[in-house]
Amino acid sequence: MLQKNMNIMFFSTHSFEKDSLTASNNNEFTLHWQEARLSPTTVALAKGSSCISLFVNDDCSEEVLDELARLGVRYIALRSAGYNHVHLPTARRHGIQIARVPAYSPYAVAEHSIALMLTLNRKIHRAHNRVREMNFSLDGLTGFDMHGKTVGIIGTGKIGAVAAKILHGFGCSLLGYDPCPDVELAQRYDMKYTDIDSLCSEADIITLHAPLLESTKYIINHATIKRMKRGVMLINTSRGGLVETKAVVAGLKSGHIGAVGLDVYEDESTLFFEDHSDSILQDDVIARLMSFPNVLITSHQAFLTDTALQNIADATFANIRAWSQGLNAPYLVL
Ligand code: NAI
Repeated sequence: MLQKNMNIMFFSTHSFEKDSLTASNNNEFTLHWQEARLSPTTVALAKGSSCISLFVNDDCSEEVLDELARLGVRYIALRSAGYNHVHLPTARRHGIQIARVPAYSPYAVAEHSIALMLTLNRKIHRAHNRVREMNFSLDGLTGFDMHGKTVGIIGTGKIGAVAAKILHGFGCSLLGYDPCPDVELAQRYDMKYTDIDSLCSEADIITLHAPLLESTKYIINHATIKRMKRGVMLINTSRGGLVETKAVVAGLKSGHIGAVGLDVYEDESTLFFEDHSDSILQDDVIARLMSFPNVLITSHQAFLTDTALQNIADATFANIRAWSQGLNAPYLVL
């Protein structure tokens, strides 16, 4: 059982989350903040903590879990919904319990997806820069009406459902692809479930809201892009691994893909959430992506609203509190 006065080490702590975590802790546990990501080189920092808390890009691989177990870590409270960064078989072998935050605000993520969509469509990012340079011309800023466009939603769970609601409000036609279709959602928003190939060939905009699994890895690849309409807009606020980035770069270079909005990137772990403005960018793939005027990248900020931060903090401490009372965490993964 986790003792009440135990030390809890928070890895990958950001200043934007400390206030909400401190408030939810309510002085119950001794919290230690660590800006470093958990990795083979930082794992020793977990010494003395039977419980640690991790964020989306911490490395919780086999090697790291072996060392965590050796150091006496028994509980891992993820401050994320996704747990693809945790090697579950190894955690199970060591009897390490893993809990997560299943939903902190589907609205935050869905709304950010729409923000990327509208910005790319109406070229707000370019217009903003122009106006700041006293360039008030409109050439090259033509967008399209969202009304009447077909949007394909890959993954129609909590976030995909909110995206469907918003897009239905715009008057878009909706296509859905999900191995577990939500019949009620489909009826409410007039969404037609279809297979991935039809979705790709019929949609004007494709937005990804599926988790990263073996079945979803590179679900967007050279072959699926080839099936897409010329000029298609692709939005990914889900996980970088869903998209084969080099295939997207090729699609952008040929003009087949019309616009790309990414909040996640398959090799984001060493870049996102940190200030690298004084460094030389070593990742040539993201460098190429950043060079396109019709690509908009945000660094995994879709979740970042005050509501979501408070929900993350509350669910994290609900998990930790349950462990401290000898109970199962309410949002147990393992
Ligand atoms: P959810 O579990 O409610 O929904 C996921 C849906 O994807 C489910 O309906 C599931 O059946 C479906 N799915 C599973 N395999 C699929 C496949 N092969 N093809 C298509 N659909 C498939 O999850 P939720 O809360 O909607 O989150 C979705 C994803 O969004 C998370 O897994 C996470 O990766 C990402 N996310 C991103 C955030 C950000 O800040 N950018 C924040 C929170 C979540």
